[in-house]
Amino acid sequence: MLRILWPSLPEAFHQIARDAAGPGFECAFCTDFSQVTDAQWETASAVVGPSVPAEHIDKLKMCRIFVKSAVGYDEVDIARYGAMGIAVSNTPDYGTREVADHAMALVLTLTKSIAYHDEELRADLRANWRPAHNPYGRRLSACTFGVVGIGRIGTAAARRAAAFDMDVVFYDPYVPNGYELALGMRRADTLAELMGQCDIVSIHAPLNAETRKLIGKDAFAAAKKGMVLVNTARGGIIDLAALHDAMQDGTVLAAGLDVLPEEPANLQEPLLAAWQRGDAWLKHRLVLTPHSAFYTPESMRDIRAFSARTAARYLRDGRLENCVNKAFLKDPR
Ligand code: NAI
Repeated sequence: MLRILWPSLPEAFHQIARDAAGPGFECAFCTDFSQVTDAQWETASAVVGPSVPAEHIDKLKMCRIFVKSAVGYDEVDIARYGAMGIAVSNTPDYGTREVADHAMALVLTLTKSIAYHDEELRADLRANWRPAHNPYGRRLSACTFGVVGIGRIGTAAARRAAAFDMDVVFYDPYVPNGYELALGMRRADTLAELMGQCDIVSIHAPLNAETRKLIGKDAFAAAKKGMVLVNTARGGIIDLAALHDAMQDGTVLAAGLDVLPEEPANLQEPLLAAWQRGDAWLKHRLVLTPHSAFYTPESMRDIRAFSARTAARYLRDGRLENCVNKAFLKDPR
């Protein structure tokens, strides 16, 4: 019997996961890791869900695949799984549209001063009823929109930006030549080249050793003055100390962050402390959301269904989808 172990899945999704896996599997669901028995770890053919705490990984005697129910897998020790012969896959396509929508929502919130006006009107409805006032206002069709990382979400965001008649340019050293032609969008060869021409920059790269603090001092030094920065990818890609300085000197006029290096926000960070205090220099220029870009009822259903299906296809048909540790998977079980 092939066993799929899901160490942390609310009951409302059990049937969705069973249906997506299809016949021939015994599914074991728990609501958190502490409920999983050693026997369940040892006999699981697949584990699906959030990252498995390090102390349990060696117990996976029969496991052939771990499917992370998320796009990001930066905290998963993919080399360790690979050395054990266990494939690791992510679930990259459950929230592509949601995250791209969220990036645009942050852009629009800032460039149309939506949150700004709402807060100001609450504070003083009469005095702040100022239709001809928009401190970060832009005609979007006059803006250049830059995408860092033109993968699934980056492409979806680029298409949305193009629908607002923006001139779109992307920086991504890993997509093949000609992708710009397929998209009908411009390509920048370096991050500095992108930063130098964009009014709005939206981050959509993965977090890894190369991208950690990629948007830092050097990137801001190359940036067009008064740009708007949006990050719905991973918080560690932006150096918050450098962003603090870039916002203080006006290089970055406004920023929308759905993700932070530490979540929830670490208020020891000067930028975030200034945001929370409502310091005058930063007021209304920084908008935060709580890593919520991915969330809709539809995406929550899809993430469970798609990750169960990935495990089932590998165990049943030998079809390995979305594998992120191929380089380490020398001798698959
Ligand atoms: P993807 O793998 O489809 O695309 C990532 C792109 O970034 C690829 O085209 C890759 O070539 C490019 N890239 C890699 N290194 C780069 C570099 N140094 N500079 C520029 N580009 C680089 O990933 P996907 O699905 O589009 O996800 C993008 C990001 O969104 C990830 O960081 C992911 O963790 C994040 N995410 C955030 C969510 C949220 O709720 N805020 C939910 C889902 C994903």
